[in-house]
Amino acid sequence: SADDGYRLWLKYDLIKNEAQRKQYAGAIKTIVSGPASPIMQSATAELQLGLQGLLGKSVAIQPTASGSAGNIILKIDPTEKLANDEGYHLYKKGSDFVIAAKTDKGVLYGSFAFLRHIQTGQPLGELAETTSPKIQLRMLNHWDNTNGSIERGYAGASLWKWFELPENLDPRYMDYARANASIGINSTVVNNVNASARFLTPEYLPKVQALANVFRPYGIKVFMSINFAAPRILGGLGTSDPLDPKVRQWWADKTKEIYAAIPDFGGFLVKANSEGQPGPQDYGRNHADGANMLAEALAPFGGVVIWRAFVYKADPNGDRFKTAYEEFKPLDGTFKPNAMVQVKNGPIDFQPREPFSPLFGAMPKTPLAMEFQITQEYLGFSTNFVYLAPLFKECLDSDTYIKGKGSTVAKVVDGTLHRYDKTAMAGVANTGSDRNWTGHTMSQANWYAFGRLAWDHTLSSEAIAQEWTKMTLTQEPKALATITDLLLNSRENYVNFTTPLGLHHIMGESLHFGPQPWLAKSARPDWTAVYYHRAAADGIGFDRTKTGSNALAQYAPEVQAQWGDPDTCPLPYLLWFHHVAWDKKLSTGRTLWDELCHRYYEGTQSVAQMQKDWATVKPEVDPELFADVAGRLAAQRREALWWRDACVLYFQEFSKMPIPAPYQKPE
Ligand code: GCU
Repeated sequence: SADDGYRLWLKYDLIKNEAQRKQYAGAIKTIVSGPASPIMQSATAELQLGLQGLLGKSVAIQPTASGSAGNIILKIDPTEKLANDEGYHLYKKGSDFVIAAKTDKGVLYGSFAFLRHIQTGQPLGELAETTSPKIQLRMLNHWDNTNGSIERGYAGASLWKWFELPENLDPRYMDYARANASIGINSTVVNNVNASARFLTPEYLPKVQALANVFRPYGIKVFMSINFAAPRILGGLGTSDPLDPKVRQWWADKTKEIYAAIPDFGGFLVKANSEGQPGPQDYGRNHADGANMLAEALAPFGGVVIWRAFVYKADPNGDRFKTAYEEFKPLDGTFKPNAMVQVKNGPIDFQPREPFSPLFGAMPKTPLAMEFQITQEYLGFSTNFVYLAPLFKECLDSDTYIKGKGSTVAKVVDGTLHRYDKTAMAGVANTGSDRNWTGHTMSQANWYAFGRLAWDHTLSSEAIAQEWTKMTLTQEPKALATITDLLLNSRENYVNFTTPLGLHHIMGESLHFGPQPWLAKSARPDWTAVYYHRAAADGIGFDRTKTGSNALAQYAPEVQAQWGDPDTCPLPYLLWFHHVAWDKKLSTGRTLWDELCHRYYEGTQSVAQMQKDWATVKPEVDPELFADVAGRLAAQRREALWWRDACVLYFQEFSKMPIPAPYQKPE
């Protein structure tokens, strides 16, 4: 059948292996629904839908078990030994199957896990899984605008059809909620952080309310990004000073109005005093003043304010790397209990590779939320095949050493290190109106991996890749192995042909597409490429040691030791922290210049290899999906050549060294 990718990993196609299918079908007879609630209804409906597809058999939903075999029993049991309300426990009881949890939400997640068990071909006899999410708010951030466009969206227009809402509910909203619930995502910010104040008006609030009503039965809470100047823009107050009582009252009233429409509203996400957005600093106040005002408005309703730490100054002689730490660390301990600070994974901006942000570990009294980017702003849009789980994991597994060895970023974010009582992980969404949701079919895996890691950051990139591939593409062992390898290597390949050895921010201006290392003038001095790579006759790279910006001092001594010496700094981070001579011998035995060329050429070659490997899975993958990925890989190959030639030829103007012999022959 032709598959347009719409069903994501929730395909529920009839299981091909007949013996296996008959085994499942024989073992499953009814779904026993448990106490009624909208969320329980979502769970039973999904089980019925999934089993109908997978087993080709309609499984009845009943209030009580019939007989003592083959019942899938949904059970809310507050005495279940689970770490929290959203966890679940799957087990066999005689010849029945139990999906138990403390709440209906846990049962919903358990139901998707039960289906996943079958979708990935695991024996029902071995049904035994106990798991609870390690992060409380597992959220998507949509950068969607009032006019239906998406900032940095590469998969079409917004999913939210604002002009038709609230009257018309596109069935896709429910499929969006199902997909999220299936991977444990429980909150969504529906609009862009560069927020139009219009979202807070009586024109847009009912539209957001309508979305919230669709998402609620899938356990998903709605949040909104707010414009800090709304009291001035909408309220006609002449000021948005967070310490002005009228402004505080305006937010208290607005918040009350929102909760009247959406009683379980999650709260606000705020981008303030960042890239031209209004904020408390416009009135001589600080980030905590701004956040605390909103926290106070939200507190009576149990809402939270999530304040972003993505800030920097336009200082050509400064180091943008250091700004967030400098502005936020001194505020630790001054935020209200229902405020969180959301930090991008790296110090600059979602580059193909960044060291972890030094804020992680630096604010023990302020719950820090992780912000990852799922949409591929700096990772080749939707022409590039880049599996992001290794990027997410690299950051989460990084050791901050803040409380000694093992103080990983993951332990900061999941709250265990500093005993945060609020925890969150956000992913900037890669969804849009394209039939397959994400533009590139393989990018569906990034949405999937984000959700799985927000639930449990100890899962491996490989396990998630296999799980996703089995559910989405194929279970044939050879093809499965090939696709898993393709996924796992794809990010490193991308780094190699775009920004090897720790290069960063050398992409095309404004669109952030393709290479532009020669960019020397921009609207802001710290947006140019030459600011970041610092290529010159004496070498290349940004010195962030004591002899340079000393950004390294923002890390624990152990981290400084790991990255501070150009002779021992791991090569993936070298040019992030050091300005290195072109002829310096690296640990690979090559000079810096030769190594740089080597990576650009091998990285580009690896895309040709990806094309070859992908071709081998053709017999096992749906023809339409196969062709889509093959076409995009061909485009990626063209882009890789562009990156390679642009960067090597540009940097050669400074190195004045020849391209190494193996790469001199034309391809
Ligand atoms: C990047 C991105 C912007 C976005 C910003 C943010 O700079 O290019 O489009 O608004 O990040 O995260 O706020």
